[in-house]
Amino acid sequence: MEFYEAVNKRRSVREFQTRPVEKGKLRRVLEAGLKAPSHNHLREWEFILIKDIDRRKEVFKLEPSSRDFTDEMVNEWAKDAPNESVKDMYLKALPIQRRMLMNAPELLVVCFRLKKTLKECRTLFDLNCFASVWACIENILLAMAAEGLYGVTKIPYETISLKKALRLPEDYEVAAIIPIGYPEGHLVRQKTVSLQEKTHHDKW
Ligand SMILES: Cc1cc2nc3c(=O)[nH]c(=O)nc-3n(C[C@H](O)[C@H](O)[C@H](O)COP(=O)(O)O)c2cc1C
Repeated sequence: MEFYEAVNKRRSVREFQTRPVEKGKLRRVLEAGLKAPSHNHLREWEFILIKDIDRRKEVFKLEPSSRDFTDEMVNEWAKDAPNESVKDMYLKALPIQRRMLMNAPELLVVCFRLKKTLKECRTLFDLNCFASVWACIENILLAMAAEGLYGVTKIPYETISLKKALRLPEDYEVAAIIPIGYPEGHLVRQKTVSLQEKTHHDKW
């Protein structure tokens, strides 16, 4: 597929068909991730694929934004929403966030090395590892689009329990969890943003 076609096709998808993902496609997607630019040529990224549903349940049971939500829990979470439409969004989104982790044919956890703790990070330079892993993630998302695959980057609310369940080394972190598969239902259209309004010349 032509590059711009993949860029235009990439979309966040949270509902998946049961159709399995071909092994070759998944391999090419992950290889594309490893070709992303990284600070100091380090590429300190690791991928964890979790296929088994029981294993997924075990891993995500303690992560607050991916637990099984009862109506009361969802309402409790949505209580502090700044307005009704944000509350509505929470009520709809939270159960979907859980469902996509359980239903996607493939589930990828992208990990990266965070040498300093977040509290110790003082400059943007200290966050280069974070910037680099997102370059890797974007390569993955674009490669998925090129392969006709879809998914979304889900950011764990906190990673303490997740790291423990996944046996991550102390100096590694979870950047994103990406459910991967073929989309169920229609794709949500992306809002267009004006390039002209976003581009400045010589000064802001
Ligand atoms: C840093 C980052 C964090 C995101 N976190 C989540 C998330 O936790 N759950 C989710 O469903 N989508 C998440 N998304 C996906 C966005 O909601 C999505 O990109 C946005 O709605 C635009 O839709 P599009 O990707 O189809 O263009 C995240 C995206 C980014 C870049």
